[in-house]
Amino acid sequence: MRKTSVCVPITLADWQATPDAAMRRDAVGGLERGDVVLFPDLPFTLSPAEAKLLDPATVKDGTKTVKYDPDTGRVWGYADGVDAAAVKSMMSRYADHTRRLLDALTPYGTALKIGNTSFRPVEAQGRQQSKRHDDTRLHVDAFPSRPSHGQRIMRVFTNVHPGDKPRVWRVGEPFETVAERFLPRIAAPLPGSAALMKLVGITKSQRSPADHYMLQLHDRMKLDDAYQQTVPHQTVAFAPGQTWMVFTDQVSHAAMSGQHALEQTFTLEVDGMADPERAPVRVLERMKGRKLH
Ligand SMILES: [Fe+2]
Repeated sequence: MRKTSVCVPITLADWQATPDAAMRRDAVGGLERGDVVLFPDLPFTLSPAEAKLLDPATVKDGTKTVKYDPDTGRVWGYADGVDAAAVKSMMSRYADHTRRLLDALTPYGTALKIGNTSFRPVEAQGRQQSKRHDDTRLHVDAFPSRPSHGQRIMRVFTNVHPGDKPRVWRVGEPFETVAERFLPRIAAPLPGSAALMKLVGITKSQRSPADHYMLQLHDRMKLDDAYQQTVPHQTVAFAPGQTWMVFTDQVSHAAMSGQHALEQTFTLEVDGMADPERAPVRVLERMKGRKLH
């Protein structure tokens, strides 16, 4: 049974603060158990130039996200005429803050790799998109074009709305329950299909069986109308100034509404976890009775 709340609150009001041992234990335990680790009062402060970016017109037409790659410093997805220096300063600072916070809270070290940073100034509710791309439907995350070979996906979010608009999520069933429901209906990957997808450029490297099953879980969850309408879930409202982190490959989640969020993606080697047996790939391997990567 789920606890009453899926959130593990950690009182840390400064990105540079040093968490104590209890905070570290709560953070790692909560994350790996599949809870949402919530910092109820950890705002990300914007400069006046950065605050001007809180406008849907900041993103390029046809996109919903401005992206930053901390490894290369590249920023993309913003509209012509937008203050690119402000975009970069905001996003690089968010990448630095989240990296530092995770290094202070977790033992993951070099097993934790920083990925792209996202800025979402567009309202999440009411966008027209296919069910597969609709993040208001409960799902677990999987990368379609960048196979992760069972690596974990962790994401840190901050609501930077300048007013009082919360970012509202639904959080669904534990991963084991999701997998028990959908895994028996998913066929094994076709022989040769992973090599072919790499060859024609659908994927950047060859998909492992773990990638296949995780992507199928993502799709099956989103495409199943009855599941979306009837599955038990909790609604969580993240107020402006709140920060939260979650293993999104494990936690069934849906972003129902909200505007102006920053998000930082990380990947983590399964063996870098405090308890690797909790990784989705290990759960799937136990159910399948074989290795999947
Ligand atoms: Fe997601």
